[in-house]
Amino acid sequence: MHGLQCGFCTPGMVMSAVDLLKNKKNPSDQEIRDWLEGNICRCTGYHNIVAAVKEAASKM
Ligand code: FES
Repeated sequence: MHGLQCGFCTPGMVMSAVDLLKNKKNPSDQEIRDWLEGNICRCTGYHNIVAAVKEAASKM
């Protein structure tokens, strides 16, 4: 889903996303954004990160 560019923020994003998907199976875009808050990405516009979390949710 092109959720990363340099990958610097990716470990934190992945850890937050895993925690979110353990607690909520089908989160909304806003819930994903709220959950990932505090993980700062200097490369992307967050849109693709949210899309990647939604894709992961659909496959889990
Ligand atoms: S992908 Fe570079 S900081 Fe997020």
